[in-house]
Amino acid sequence: MKTTPLPKKFLPFALFFIKSQWKWLLLIQFFFFGWSLDSTLWPYVIMKLINSIVNFSGERSEAWQAISTPIYMGIALWITIETFFRLGGILNAKVIPKIEADIRMNMFHYVLRHSHHYFSNQMAGSVANKIADMPQSFTRILEQILMIFSPVFLAIIISTTLLSLINPLFSLILAVGIIIHMSICLFFSKSCDHYSKIHSESRSSLVGKIVDSLTNSSNVRLFARNKFESRYVSDFQKEELKKHQYSLWVIEKMKIGLGLTSFLIFGLAMNGFMLYSWVHGNLTAGEVVFIFNTNWNITMMIWFAGLELPQFFKEIGVCKQALSIIQSPHDIVDDPNAVPLVVRKGKVVFDHVSFQYQKQQSLFNDKNIIIQGGQKVGLVGFSGSGKSTFVNLILRHYDIQRGRILIDDQDIAKVTQDSLREQISIIPQDPSLFHRSLMDNIRYGRLDATDEQVIEAAKRAHCHEFITSLPQGYQTSVGERGVKLSGGQRQRIAIARAILKNAPIIILDEATSSLDSITEREIQAGLEHVMKGHTTIVIAHRLSTLSEMDRILVFDKGKIVEDGTHDGLIKLNGHYAKMWRMQAGGFLPEK
Ligand SMILES: Nc1ncnc2c1ncn2[C@@H]1O[C@H](COP(=O)(O)OP(=O)(O)OP(=O)(O)O)[C@@H](O)[C@H]1O
Ligand SMILES: [Mg+2]
Repeated sequence: MKTTPLPKKFLPFALFFIKSQWKWLLLIQFFFFGWSLDSTLWPYVIMKLINSIVNFSGERSEAWQAISTPIYMGIALWITIETFFRLGGILNAKVIPKIEADIRMNMFHYVLRHSHHYFSNQMAGSVANKIADMPQSFTRILEQILMIFSPVFLAIIISTTLLSLINPLFSLILAVGIIIHMSICLFFSKSCDHYSKIHSESRSSLVGKIVDSLTNSSNVRLFARNKFESRYVSDFQKEELKKHQYSLWVIEKMKIGLGLTSFLIFGLAMNGFMLYSWVHGNLTAGEVVFIFNTNWNITMMIWFAGLELPQFFKEIGVCKQALSIIQSPHDIVDDPNAVPLVVRKGKVVFDHVSFQYQKQQSLFNDKNIIIQGGQKVGLVGFSGSGKSTFVNLILRHYDIQRGRILIDDQDIAKVTQDSLREQISIIPQDPSLFHRSLMDNIRYGRLDATDEQVIEAAKRAHCHEFITSLPQGYQTSVGERGVKLSGGQRQRIAIARAILKNAPIIILDEATSSLDSITEREIQAGLEHVMKGHTTIVIAHRLSTLSEMDRILVFDKGKIVEDGTHDGLIKLNGHYAKMWRMQAGGFLPEK
């Protein structure tokens, strides 16, 4: 992985990835010049051969002497070109996939470090599409330069030089034709680039919508919304179709211009002047064949290059569009002087913290809380009162606008994010699992854990029984985001993962909400061992979950309105006591 930051502009980005392979790329370029030799030297060898044949006037059986030189030249040329092509191909097959892999991994690495906020606002499908597009388009651009544009350019130089040896006017006609051809290409290039970028953006967003529908396929089925989803996606498809058609139409307009130039200059002017010169005795038969072949080859080459050009700009457009995911800066970054967090007791302090989500009204205003190391704190409050936000801030998923959050007197904004999150085990409200085996999912909590340690954690989280009852046991794949498990099973896997991690600060955000009361009790007994001496923050709607807590904080619209033990708060007869009384069967009422 590159350690220097990835450049945000296309050209510096391209150079950044080419740099490590530039010697190989130069060699590949050298071999791919074989095409230039093929197109320009063959007409020359054939001219020599025809002139030798035409000028030979002796016995045919003795002609070998006269024609052997061009034949040897031809054989040498054939072998050279074939060798060039094969060597170029072999090197290309080695180097290009390497560059592609390098770009893909670096982009993935960069995108992965985007914040919680970034991913809440992006569609995973669209981001994945860009990570897939970039390396592919980039290497296509590289191959076009190496295999097409540069060889064509060299062929033009060789051909004009050889033609000028016969009559500089032929070189002039060729040069004028090429300049007009290039001008037309460049004239259209801007619009090709522009419209392909627009098309690429709409394709990415279409793919994002398709992936979003597919990942929510259970919702689609449950609400019988197949038709609705098709209609919804087809609106984006219509938009993409329009943009795709327009981007292709611009290319067709360009082709009309190029076709006309080819016909007038390479067809009429060049061949006309050639015939005129022959009629006036200024060209030999061999030269006529040479000029005709050279003209034909160059026309083919630049026509081919011209057709590749829109694709070239299209790929540039795709790359620029894909670059957007690395152009958005990481919004949560480590302080340049960040040090690893060292947790001794696990004391958490909110010191005059103010926070609001972007463009929303303030949620926390000058909040001050001290949670002592090792304390077990329950958070309660109505839905949307800010409990999850409170723990998200401790995890630094968002940066606060004012104040400080301290863990053991270290400002979390001044420590590395990795070290911060390594010290906190969180079991989120809706845990999602990787599309990997159960063993791998649990081991995610501690990568160096042995199978035995994983199984031990699973036993504590009461998931060992159901895992071993599955045909493939711990090797069972859980499906995308863990869909093949029940909500409660998913929660238990997340708990096992957190137990294995054994961090000094533990956060349970509705971690047992999908479990029946009996399983919950059992898991709590398992968790007790892990919570021992560790700071624990438990969010729960089911108040009975919190009865063992040292302290309960009651949230209301971002404010902490009550703070005390269960018994103390019941005695206080305020919000908590009211909730406790209203709770039928252990759950908070809706409002
Ligand atoms: N990523 C976000 N962007 C913008 N606003 C958000 C975001 N996450 C939460 N909010 C808003 O912040 C407020 C507090 O949300 P939070 O998730 O902290 O509530 P909560 O107390 O955990 O609720 P619940 O009990 O339903 O989980 C809500 O009004 C919510 O809409
Ligand atoms: Mg929540």
